[in-house]
Amino acid sequence: MLFCLDAERAHSLASNFAKRLQSYSAARELLRTVCTTTSKTLPRLRSTVFDIDFKNPIGIAAGFDKNAELIPFISDLDFGFIEIGSVSNLPCQGNPKPRLFRLPADSALINRLGLNNIGADLVAENLKSLSNCDIVIGASIVKTHDPDILDKRAIIDIVECYKKLHAQAHYFTLNVSCPNTSDGKTFEESNALKELLTAIASTKGGLNSKTPLLVKFSADIPLTKLEEAISVCEEHSIDGYVLTNTTTSRPTLKTPKTLVDNIGSGGLSGKPLFAKSIERVRFAYSLLGGKKPIIGVGGIDSAASAYAHIKAGASLLQLYTGLVYEGPLICKAINYELNHLLLQDGFATLREAVGSANKKFIGGLQG
Ligand code: FNR
Repeated sequence: MLFCLDAERAHSLASNFAKRLQSYSAARELLRTVCTTTSKTLPRLRSTVFDIDFKNPIGIAAGFDKNAELIPFISDLDFGFIEIGSVSNLPCQGNPKPRLFRLPADSALINRLGLNNIGADLVAENLKSLSNCDIVIGASIVKTHDPDILDKRAIIDIVECYKKLHAQAHYFTLNVSCPNTSDGKTFEESNALKELLTAIASTKGGLNSKTPLLVKFSADIPLTKLEEAISVCEEHSIDGYVLTNTTTSRPTLKTPKTLVDNIGSGGLSGKPLFAKSIERVRFAYSLLGGKKPIIGVGGIDSAASAYAHIKAGASLLQLYTGLVYEGPLICKAINYELNHLLLQDGFATLREAVGSANKKFIGGLQG
């Protein structure tokens, strides 16, 4: 039924329904009964990453719950963690509608939402009011989507956002793939990234915060640029990486080209993103010698795609588009089957499997 509606309207209807549901304890209990297999019965999937305990490796990617309104619901669907946001310092309405499109033949979405969110002050209130949620919460932060906030002001803007939320999440992700200069450059550029990370590190130090800080890159960042950007991040003691955001490219799709052209610009997510995201996970894992955690995201919609990301080097995983196409039981299904795949390959823990398809290569490099 939701697929008969415009994609953004469907998301907002489903979100309103979920908000209602999570306000009734009996409904939450029922949801947990239907959706939870893993927490107690699949200890193989538990892991400690950035000194945080995750009951399983599957999280909800940024963009799904921009305003931190659905955390109890997501927790009851058995997700191990959620990355709320991206949140900006100031509220933002985003781009004109329509701005979210389904490509069912490709199990993909195209979005140009334009970072719509209610702003860091209200999101902080939402996070403070949470209770009874057994889930790790990450907060994705981003520059306010306003073409007048550029250069130095862009950095001040992100730092303000970070300050407002700093006590409200288990980890933070800097979403650096949005334009922050008048010529459309992003914080993925080395110099801009250096300035941003220096400012955030000094704020973090000033706040005496130990909360892990991650950086998320676009799927379109060339590997040489990714190498440069990771080296800047390593100089600033970044705790981990989220790979990747959406792609503006249009790989060969099953959806007719005229339809795709009619949709216009936007970030493509879902199955067609898988190859690009896993390539960047594999690359970053090798580059870092497996020493920093990576959250793999892009086209994960099954245990097989989840396992491939883990073997390429991801310690944790996130998904968004897979939930749209596979429905709310996706996390339960992936966890159940992932456990089976690990068992089949003789891995006692998820951690042992991380980067296992990559380890020979790293050995070769070091040798
Ligand atoms: C996103 N994504 C995203 N990422 C981010 O860092 N901040 C954001 O605000 C958003 N917003 C957003 C909205 C919508 C509608 C979609 C579909 C995606 C990107 C998302 O977190 C993820 O990186 C990609 O969608 C790839 O994962 P999937 O969807 O292929 O599982």
